[in-house]
Formats: sequence, structure tokens, C-alpha cells
Amino acid sequence: MKQLYIAGNWKMHKTVAESVALAKDLVAKLGASGQKVMIAPAFTALASVAAVVKGTKIRLGAQNMGPEEQGAHTGEVSVLMLKDLGVSTVILGHSERRHSYKEDDGLINKKVLLALKHGIEPILCVGETLEEREAGRLESVIGTQVREGLKGVDAAVLAKLVIAYEPVWAIGTGKTATPQDADAVHAYIRKVLAGLYGEGPAKSMCIQYGGSVKADNAKELMGMANIDGALVGGASLKAETFVPIVEF
Ligand code: PGA
Repeated sequence: MKQLYIAGNWKMHKTVAESVALAKDLVAKLGASGQKVMIAPAFTALASVAAVVKGTKIRLGAQNMGPEEQGAHTGEVSVLMLKDLGVSTVILGHSERRHSYKEDDGLINKKVLLALKHGIEPILCVGETLEEREAGRLESVIGTQVREGLKGVDAAVLAKLVIAYEPVWAIGTGKTATPQDADAVHAYIRKVLAGLYGEGPAKSMCIQYGGSVKADNAKELMGMANIDGALVGGASLKAETFVPIVEF
């Protein structure tokens, strides 16, 4: 069976103490897991969680970062600061960033290139709204987000990047795309990638699915040919709900 990449996005939840407690619990329960696992706590808890996961198989992720290395950018966190803490992955272009904070493809692309430059693995999130899907614009929206997000990304570093398909209407709503629907979009993303980089790189790209992934739908979703893992929000906030997704 293929190795899956399961990532937990803790969003704006948990104090430092709560984050450390969950990270310790996950290290204890997932230490021997064969899957690739990442957790992304809030910025404020990164340093403390870094100390917990250091030397374990759990990767440390950030939920966002600024588009510049340093400078007068009030409120931003830079790639250099993340690197300094031992962060190995950064979630970029999450739909909450795109929609609530108006991040556009150009800005997200800048962050993707910066993360790659510094050896941090970007998880580039793409996804359509319900309105876009119902208007028949699914492929054009996803295609644009993938092409623009990857602008300037060299074929040689493509394997260092992950794509997460997260239909906006399925995030935090309890609604999931059917495994078949999700797989079809993943296949479409591979088609776009094949057009940009060729069949080989498109086939080996890791594409996660996100949007109300739970223990009871993980098996079916992860069994689909084009789905290589999950980006989990709500269910990643407790070991009881996250561990069964990793070990479905
Ligand atoms: P959810 O969030 O699992 O709570 O739907 C997924 C995400 O936003 O990454």
C-alpha cells in the first residue's frame, strides 16, 4: 500500500500548554506509524511543540507565512523565523486565507517560491466554492489556482511540494466530497500538472484531500487512486479523532 501523508491543521485553536499536551499524546500514539504525519499548531505554540516532536517522526508545520524574508511587515511571520524553529512544512493558500483575508494567487505563489527557496515544504491548497462548482467552473478555478500557484516552480523541486484539494464547501461543514468526486478532481489536478511538467512528475505528486475528513470516511477517501493523504482540520484537534484517521 502507498504511504499516505496525513496533516493536522489546528487553525486558531489551543494554548501553548494544550498544544504541547496534544503533541505529546500524538508522539506516543503515532511513533510507530508507517504514514507521514504533520501537525500545524498556531504560531504561538510552534517553539514548544517543536521541542516535543524533535527527533520523532512527526513533522512540524506552520499554517501560513509572510511573503518576504524580513523587513517592515507588521504582524507577519517570516520563513526564516519558521526555519529557525525547526518547521519543515507550511500550509499556503488555505481557503480561509484566500476568502477571509483576500490572499490571491500572486501572493500565494510568492510564498510558495519563498518556502521552496528555504527548503520548507509548501502544501499548496486549492479548492472551489459551491457557487463556482454549481456554475460549472470547477476545472477553470482549480486549474488557475494550480497554474498560478506553481508559476516559476522548477520541475526539479516539484517533488518537494504537496497539493491539497479542499473544496471550500466541505471545510468544517461536515459535508465531504464523495470519494469518486474528490478522486476526479485529483485526477484533473494531475492532468494540469502533466501539462506543466509531464506525466511522470504529475503521477508522483502527493495530492491530499481536505474537508471534513473523519475516521469514518478516511478509509474510503484514502483508498482512491489519486488521493495520497489528508489535510485534516476539526478532527485533528484531539488524539481520539486524529489517530484513527492516520491508522484507519
Ligand atoms: P475540516 O478542515 O477538516 O475541519 O473540514 C479542513 C481544512 O480546513 O484543512
